[in-house]
Amino acid sequence: MINQFRENDKMTWSLIDSNPAIRKYLPGTPSKQESFEYIEESIISYNLNGFGRYAVRIRDSGKLIGMCGFLLEEYGVDFGYRYLPEHWGKGLGFEAARAVLDFGLEFIEADNIFALALATNVASVRIIEKLNFSFLGKVNVGPYNDVLKYALKIP
Ligand SMILES: CC(C)(COP(=O)(O)OP(=O)(O)OC[C@H]1O[C@@H](n2cnc3c(N)ncnc32)[C@H](O)[C@@H]1OP(=O)(O)O)[C@@H](O)C(=O)NCCC(=O)NCCS
Repeated sequence: MINQFRENDKMTWSLIDSNPAIRKYLPGTPSKQESFEYIEESIISYNLNGFGRYAVRIRDSGKLIGMCGFLLEEYGVDFGYRYLPEHWGKGLGFEAARAVLDFGLEFIEADNIFALALATNVASVRIIEKLNFSFLGKVNVGPYNDVLKYALKIP
């Protein structure tokens, strides 16, 4: 089940987003306050931009297990995802990415959607390539100087 983040997701999200396994290919570890702000900024973005990062939940229980969605960055609309490790390797990452990307392509007003991943993050790169993003080149992002940058042209 994929829907918008809510204020009461903050605590669970902060536990997910500070999980060391999830941070393996992401810079730093967010503080609880930073994770809370991530949820607040997502909620603001739904109204401000019409899109945001979305909550991915277990259908039966409603338990939050991660996120997939869009974020307005200085380079444009970014597409990203992250989930609790116990849900990896079962096809969820691609299935959610496909569904959320198709949803966004219906209404996001931009020329491109961008996706960034470290080359060593094989599962993430595989998802991006299966979604038919085109490789643009390597860019510097925070502590990393070899981040793969991809773009998908919005028809
Ligand atoms: C990246 C992430 C979202 C992938 O989610 P997932 O549910 O494991 O992905 P899927 O099961 O849908 O697999 C997607 C593809 O990657 C492959 N894959 C998955 N895990 C892999 C691994 N450890 N090594 C190599 N390939 C892997 C799958 O086989 C599949 O490719 P295929 O269709 O050719 O078989 C998940 O690992 C995650 O949340 N990671 C932590 C956060 C993160 O790194 N986010 C991305 C930042 S750019």
